[in-house]
Amino acid sequence: MQQEEQRIDGHTRVCGLIGNPVEHTMSPIIHNTLAKKEGRNLIYVPFHVENGRVGEAVKGAFALNVLGLNVTVPYKSEVLEHLDGMDGMAEKIGAVNTLVRTDKGYKGYNTDVTGLYRAMCSEGIRLEGEEILILGAGGAARAAAFLCASKGAKKVYILNRTAEKAGGVAEEVNRAFRTECVRAMRMGDYKNLGTGRKYLAIQATSVGLYPDKEKAVIMEREFYEMIHTGFDLIYKPFRTKFMSMVQEAGGQAFHGLKMLLYQGIEAYELWNGIAVPEEDALALYRTLLEYMGI
Ligand code: ATR
Repeated sequence: MQQEEQRIDGHTRVCGLIGNPVEHTMSPIIHNTLAKKEGRNLIYVPFHVENGRVGEAVKGAFALNVLGLNVTVPYKSEVLEHLDGMDGMAEKIGAVNTLVRTDKGYKGYNTDVTGLYRAMCSEGIRLEGEEILILGAGGAARAAAFLCASKGAKKVYILNRTAEKAGGVAEEVNRAFRTECVRAMRMGDYKNLGTGRKYLAIQATSVGLYPDKEKAVIMEREFYEMIHTGFDLIYKPFRTKFMSMVQEAGGQAFHGLKMLLYQGIEAYELWNGIAVPEEDALALYRTLLEYMGI
């Protein structure tokens, strides 16, 4: 989709994304569409930051009066030492994806977590009192695990190929929320959970990501028979193998595009001190679908 030209003048505020790589990001579509819809004089641009230079990037952005930044891989933790303050949830997680300008520097937030929650709520998925399986123990899985614990999940099982990493995440989340609800498991150990109960499953590994659309991290149907709802954090391809397998076994399945949407909306709201109406969020969602050719 071709973006209409945006007005740029002496009052234009700048927001952007820092990461490496940033070339495939859809965030400019989110923020520039919102700004255009609101008639706000703001543009959003990607900044490719070379490894080892994130501190300089943050300092330079502040000097250039940049209003806000998103932060992506590999800087979500590395950027912390260059911030002037952190939101409570971001501090617990030890990772940020959004920097908001203050008088003295940038304050860090984690809208991956709040965005995932808003995406789940918009699909009618609840976490309170649920038994949840999280597949993976990388950055995305950590965000999901922190969210589940913070929203009062009854039990969270983290299943990962490398069991030690799952153990590390479980320990961190349990410590942060003074709970014991999170437990690490090996990928195949779901078989020990017993049948009869159905779970919410959050797919947070990178397996199944385009172009590997025929792959899922667990291929056994018996796993999917335990799932009432499957939420894949991947949004490309639009229908992942994980989602197909959940649906074939009778569950409902969702992809990660709404997480992307709402993490962006939450950042935009923080930068501009406004609330984006739900109908604008859904219109923006349709723009993203159109951009993806869906
Ligand atoms: P992200 O930031 O997207 O979470 P990441 O931190 O690199 O990315 O994490 C990738 C996750 O996918 C990890 O849980 C990884 O498992 P390991 O911890 O064992 O590496 C998982 N993953 C990636 N490729 C996998 C594969 N082929 N089989 C099983 N798990 C895989």
